[in-house]
This record gives sequence, structure tokens and C-alpha cells, in this order.
Amino acid sequence: MSENFAYLNGSLHAESVDLAQIADAVGTPFYCYSTAVIVERYRRFHAAVAPLGGQICYAVKANSNQAVLATLARLGAGADVVSEGEARRAVAAGIPPARIVFSGVGKTGAELAYALDTGIGQVNIESERDLELLSRLAVARGKRMPIAIRINPDVDARTHAKISTGKAENKFGIDINEAPRVFARAAALPGVEPVSVAVHIGSQLTDFAPYEQAFRRVAELVRTLRAAGIAIRHLDLGGGIGVPYRGETAPDVTAYAEIVRRTVGDLDCDLLFEPGRYLVAEAGVLVGTVIDVKQGATRCFVVCDFAMNDLIRPTLYEAYHPMLPVAEPASGATSAVVDVVGPICETGDFLARDRALPPIAPGDLLAVTHAGGYGAVMSSTYNTRPMVPEVLVNGSEWAVVRPRPSYDELIGLDRVPGWLAGPTGTR
Ligand code: LLP
Repeated sequence: MSENFAYLNGSLHAESVDLAQIADAVGTPFYCYSTAVIVERYRRFHAAVAPLGGQICYAVKANSNQAVLATLARLGAGADVVSEGEARRAVAAGIPPARIVFSGVGKTGAELAYALDTGIGQVNIESERDLELLSRLAVARGKRMPIAIRINPDVDARTHAKISTGKAENKFGIDINEAPRVFARAAALPGVEPVSVAVHIGSQLTDFAPYEQAFRRVAELVRTLRAAGIAIRHLDLGGGIGVPYRGETAPDVTAYAEIVRRTVGDLDCDLLFEPGRYLVAEAGVLVGTVIDVKQGATRCFVVCDFAMNDLIRPTLYEAYHPMLPVAEPASGATSAVVDVVGPICETGDFLARDRALPPIAPGDLLAVTHAGGYGAVMSSTYNTRPMVPEVLVNGSEWAVVRPRPSYDELIGLDRVPGWLAGPTGTR
């Protein structure tokens, strides 16, 4: 748990702000992010990679709130985006388009046109169709877009199967064996300038050995490409650094940077990194209220007002998120093993199973930690539950950075066609 979430006078605080006070003001559930944690993680990552000539393009998908993006923009971060929507958010939050990298496995013509017209700094190509389309659109605009080609190195990242991206069987990138041919093709096409090799093998890596394997393959490819006359000047090494959800020793970014140095450090390339989770996961908590404590025949259920639609990671990836009562438990309080669930009508609606928690009662506030990355961004309005508001804390200040929509706003998004207008029960 980050030092910026701690008990003060018996109540869990984000920096100097009492989470119970935010709960009173905005209601529950809500997400709360700590600026100090984001800044600290950014500085730590930057200190590790800057000596290698590294630039950070934050992976917006992890947490795309504009207040979070603006916090990172002020620190000098660029952005890695995978949709026009993410690109627009990054630009709106003040990230210069030249520092934005547009990745993604299925970019549309409209998205590539947007990238060209907005002056996005680099497009990461994931297929030959991507390449041809971008070339055509760039030529039509009299532009030349710097590109990276994302290769698939066929390396097992040894993380959860749903977030592994670097095996040959995954949909991502271009098979490393095909890469020399595709680079040669790109070099011959107008409107695109192949300058970089990109790789991203997966997310939540806690063992860095797969990085070593992947980056060595990238280095070998760069030598092959240079021998063929293709001037590779940049490398995009992706993201994926894990965070210690289970309180294990935190993956060490210095060790990661050392792997980068010894695998690709002698290639004289500018390096680009796309960390997402590392910068924001530990900066966020999801706070909810216990609605009921229900003893079933075989298990005890703590039913809360947050649910799988607010934080889907536990049910989607069997992910573990620590939980803490906002009111500090009495020292020596005995824990009981419970399931923490939401009100959604699915058995998959749980945030924790078989979790030892201190005594907890209806009305208590519960904080789910390590929820700043892939939390709010993956939420939905399933069961017509309004999107959870987001709050950003900065020292003793705090602000709502995405308000909770009203029911009218949520329901009012639907349109009832003319043939259904008028009184019911007439047929
Ligand atoms: N670059 C690329 C090309 C990516 O696909 C990703 C993540 C990143 C960077 C950032 O990876 P990070 O540093 O955050 O690990 N929803 C899942 C994670 C999906 C990651 C997708 N790609 C989860 O909640 O675990």
C-alpha cells in the first residue's frame, strides 16, 4: 500500500484528505486518486530510463481521466493512445500531439486521418493493411508520417492469458520473421517513414526475464534492418511493468532499465516507454459502503454498493485487490473470511472471494486499493448503475474530476422511436 494512503486519526486518508469526508460529500461508490503517488511513480520511472535516452508516453488506457492526463502532462509525459477518443482526451488534457503515439490493432481510416491532421507524432503499424492505408492517406495530404512497426516476438510474458500479447498466437503486431520484408515494403512506400521498432509483450509482468528475451530479439532485428539499409533510430519498448497487488516485493524499475541497457543500449536509438498501470494503479482506491452482511449456508457475503461494473478486474482476470475498512480497525480485531460482492444479479459479481477482513457492518466504508489503473476506464453502466464519480486529491485539496451522472442523464441517453410514442396498452 502506498504511503500516501494511510490511517490518520482512525480514518483512511488519501494524502491529507479523509476518505470518509469525500464519501460524505460525493456519496459512494467513488474512485479517488492521489496526485502524489502518480508524481512519485512517474519520477521513479523517469529516473530509471532517462539516462538511457528514454521518453515516457503514458498508456492512456490505464486511466484516461483528463485530470490524471494533465497531471502527467505537466511532468513532461507524452501519451500512448489506441483510439481517436483517447487521442482527443490526451490533446484536450494538454499533451502535445507530437508526443503522442497512436497504437492499436484495428485502426480505422478515420482514425488514421485524424492522426495525420492533428500532427500525432508517430503511428505504430500492426498490419500491412494499416501500412497501406496510412501511406495512401498521408500521400493525399502531402504528409510523411514517422512510423514504428510493432513486431510480435513470440515471447511468453508469463502473465494472465487475457493480457499476454507477445506470443505468436496473439493478434498483436507483425510476426518477427516477417518484419524485414514488411519494413522493406514500408521503406518503399510514399507518405510513411519507418524509423522505429515497437514491441509490447503483455501487462502486469512481475518477472522481467521475458523482457530480456523480447528486447534481444528486437536488437537482432534492428541489426538486420540496418544491414538492409533501413535507418532505425527509435525503439518503442511498450509497457507492462507490474504492480504488487498482493503486497509482494514491488517490481524494480531500475532492474527493468538495466535489462533495457544491456539488450538494446548499444544501438544508439532513442527509446520510448509506454507504462500505464505502473504510473496509476497504486494511486487509486475505489470506496464503497457496505449495504448488508449476509450469512449464507456456506459463506458470508459482504454486499457493497460497488460492483463488477465499477471494477471488473476481479471477475475478468481473477485479479486480487487489497481491501481496507476506511475506519481503522481496533488493534487485535479478529478477521473473518468473507466474499465481497456487489448488488448485480450475477454470481460473477464479486470483488473478492475468501477474503479475511476485520469485523465489518452495514454502513461501514470499504476501500479497494490498487484500483487507479484499469478501474474506472473499464467500468460500465450495467444494471443501469450510473458511472462512478472520480476524485483527485492533491495534498489537502481535492476535486471531483468526473461527477456522478444523474439518473436522468443516464436514462436520457436512450431515444424512443416515433412508433413507440403515445400511450401504452392500445394494441
Ligand atoms: N502499450 C501497449 C501497446 C499496450 O497494449 C498496453 C496495455 C500498454 C502499453 C500498457 O501496459 P501496462 O503498462 O499498463 O501494463 N485491462 C487489463 C490490462 C490490459 C493491458 C492492455 N495493454 C488489466 O486490467 O489488467
